Amino acid sequence: MKRIAIFASGTGTNAARIMEHFTDHPALQVALIVCNKPQAGVLSIAAVHKVDTLLIERDRFFSGDGYVAVLQEKKIDWIILAGFLWKVPLSLLQQFKGHIVNIHPALLPAFGGKGMYGERVHEAVLVAKEAESGITIHFVDEEYDHGATIFQARCPVLSNDSVNSLAARIHALEHQHYPRVIEELICR
Ligand code: GRF
Repeated sequence: MKRIAIFASGTGTNAARIMEHFTDHPALQVALIVCNKPQAGVLSIAAVHKVDTLLIERDRFFSGDGYVAVLQEKKIDWIILAGFLWKVPLSLLQQFKGHIVNIHPALLPAFGGKGMYGERVHEAVLVAKEAESGITIHFVDEEYDHGATIFQARCPVLSNDSVNSLAARIHALEHQHYPRVIEELICR
């Protein structure tokens, strides 16, 4: 059984889909939700799914062991980022080499990098008058939104799109693909 930790700091809709997808899965289990915000919606979703949670603090994450010891104790094999905004420290990158995955709400390498998250991404896509946008699932390395691409899916950007309507279309794509891509990657 492979054990994954989902790192999420927001609403947690992707985390929810992943937990649903892997409920009673024979080969993969969501063993932990890691979060840096005590009020994040993802924590109550974890409680519903009876998944353990770990609230992390900046100092230990960036200047200590990056919580490597806790993740080892919990026998975590893979880290899945789903709306986690802190940069992953070297301690974790080294310990989980090639086993950390992120999802970005645009077609990387466009519209990625430091500060490009949430509504800002969709705003930039609209300002650039792109004909399409999409999602990128990729490995995590030392740079924001930079590691090798695992999967992309595209959707149109409509002429009357707002940030909200585009965000909703992108979120639907994420929910459709992220759990399946994780499954194929880890269980292959
Ligand atoms: C998603 O759009 C994802 O691409 C980005 O953060 C967002 C998280 O949304 N990395 P949610 O909390 O899963 O709804």
